[in-house]
Amino acid sequence: MYEKEINKRRTFAIISHPDAGKTTLTEKFLLYGGAINLAGSVKGKATARHAVSDWMEIEKERGISVTSSVLQFEYDGYCINILDTPGHQDFSEDTYRTLMAADSAVMVIDASKGVEAQTRKLFKVCAMRKIPIFTFINKMDRDANDTFELLDEIEKELGVATCPVNWPIGSGKRFKGVYDRNKKAVMTFSDTEKGTKEGHTDVLPVDDEDKLREFIGDEACDTLLEEIELIDGASAEFNLDEVQHGELSPVFFGSALTNFGVEMFLKYFLEMTTTPLARKADKGIIDPVTNDFSAFVFKIQANMNKAHRDRIAFMRICSGRFDAGMEVKHVQGGRVMRLSQPQQMMADARHVVDEAYAGDIIGVFDPGVFSIGDTICMPGENFEYEGIPTFAPEHFARVRQLDTMKRKQFVKGINQIAQEGAIQIFQEIGSGMEEIIVGVVGVLQFEVLKYRLENEYNVDIKLENLPYEHIRWIENKDEVDVSRLTGTSDMKKIQDLKGNPLLLFVNSWSVGMVLERNEGLKLTEFGRN
Ligand code: G4P
Repeated sequence: MYEKEINKRRTFAIISHPDAGKTTLTEKFLLYGGAINLAGSVKGKATARHAVSDWMEIEKERGISVTSSVLQFEYDGYCINILDTPGHQDFSEDTYRTLMAADSAVMVIDASKGVEAQTRKLFKVCAMRKIPIFTFINKMDRDANDTFELLDEIEKELGVATCPVNWPIGSGKRFKGVYDRNKKAVMTFSDTEKGTKEGHTDVLPVDDEDKLREFIGDEACDTLLEEIELIDGASAEFNLDEVQHGELSPVFFGSALTNFGVEMFLKYFLEMTTTPLARKADKGIIDPVTNDFSAFVFKIQANMNKAHRDRIAFMRICSGRFDAGMEVKHVQGGRVMRLSQPQQMMADARHVVDEAYAGDIIGVFDPGVFSIGDTICMPGENFEYEGIPTFAPEHFARVRQLDTMKRKQFVKGINQIAQEGAIQIFQEIGSGMEEIIVGVVGVLQFEVLKYRLENEYNVDIKLENLPYEHIRWIENKDEVDVSRLTGTSDMKKIQDLKGNPLLLFVNSWSVGMVLERNEGLKLTEFGRN
C-alpha cells in the first residue's frame, strides 16, 4: 500500500568505540542530506546534542547525554533514519536495545586502533540478529595500521568475512586516496579547505597508468597495483545476499574529518543495505509493506518532567503507516488507545509527526503503560512481536536502603526503574526483596538509579560495588538442578524477579570452567523476557 514510502527508508545504527569518529561521520552524512548547513553543529559537544536530550538533571550536571536519539533526513531519494548509540560513560543497555530497532549497522573503526572493546560488544548484538554490517575504517589521513592486518583482525576478532569495496593508497601524510574496486578507478585525496564540504578529488581510471603515476607517484602506484592483484585473488567475492544476511561485511576506507570517502560510502551503503526488514511475531513474519500499522517499543525514556513522572516510549514502526490520532491497540495492555504527542527527531530538533512509515522511529507520550518489547498494532489485530532480549550487565552492586521505614517506596521505585530498563535487579536465591543486587551495562546507571530514587521516590540508598563482571542466563533451566551445579569459587547463584536462575562470575575463564564441570549446562549472554 505504502510501498514507495516504505521502500525508500533505510534505518541503521552507527556502532563504534568512543573516539573512532562516529559523531564526525554522522555530521558528514547529515551534511549530504542538507539537514544541517555546517558540519559540526550536530553535537558541538555541549550544544545541539543536549538540546535533543537534556531531559534529566543528571545529564546537565555531568555534561553528557544519557539517552540515544534518532535522526531522520533525506538523501538521493532515500529517507534515512540514523539511530545514535551512545558511547563513553553513557553506554547502557539502551545502547544495545537501539540495535534491535535498526535494520543494519555501520561499524566505524579507527584505522590506527583496529577493533576495540565497545565495537566488539555492539558487534555481537548485530551478529546475533544477522543484520548487515558495513565497516568504515576511519582516519586514513593519520598513520594507519597495515590494511591487510586490519581486515584480518576484523575477520578473526569478530568472526565475519570482509570484502573491501575500496582500497586505501597509503595513510597519514602519505595518504593518496582510495581505489574503487567496482569502478576500477582511483579517487585522489586532498584535505578539505576551510568552510567547504570536501577537498578536491580527481577520478583516475587505474588502466591509465601514466596518469596514475603522475598523480600519486611511482612508489604508491607500484604498491597499489601489487595490492590490487593480491586482493582480487585473496579476498572474498562480493555477494549481496551474504551482505544482507550479515555474513559478509563490505569494508570502506576514508577520513570522516576531511570528508573523504564519505559520500562514496553513503552511496554504496544505501544501495547495498536493506529496506525495512520483516519482523518476527508470534503469528509469523510480519511484512512491512503488506501489513497495516504495527510497532514495538524498544526504549523508554523516563522523567522528562519531574512533576508528572512522564515517560516517552520510543517505538520502531515495523509495518504500514502511522497517522497521528489513529486508534491503535496496545497488545500487552489489552487496550485500544490513541498514541499521544507522537514525535520524531529531525537533525537536532524534535517535532510532532502527522504520519510515519515502517522503518521510522517515533517517540510517544507514555502515561506509564508501556514496557520494553511491547507490541502496538491495529485494533482489529492481535499479535506480539518477539521480545527484546535482556543484555548482560557488566557491573554489579548490592543495594542498601538507608531508611527502612520507606520500604514500600523503595520497592516501588526500584521496580519502576527496572521496568523502564535502565537497570536490572536480582536477588540471592531464596532471599526475597531483602537482598537486592543491581546490574548495569554502564556504571553511570548506578548514579542514575541513586539520583532518581532520591529525587523521585525520596529514598536514600547506598550502593556497595560487587566484584562480578560476567553474568549468564541458564538457557536450559528446566533441565538443570541449579542447587547442584558445581562452580568455581568466584561464582554466585542469583535469580531475576521472575525467578529465572543466573550465574555471576568475577573472571571470564570461570564461565568455561563451569561449563566443563557441568555436562549439558547451556549458558547465554542474552536473557529473554
Ligand atoms: P566518536 O563520536 O566516535 O566518539 O568520535 P568523534 O566523531 O567525536 O571523533 C573523535 C575525534 O577524532 C575528534 O577529535 C575528531 O575530530 C577526530 N576524527 C574523527 N574523524 C577523523 C578523521 O577522519 N581523521 C582525523 N584525523 N581525525 C578524526 P577531537 O580532537 O577529540 O575532538 P574535536 O575537538 O575535534 O571535536
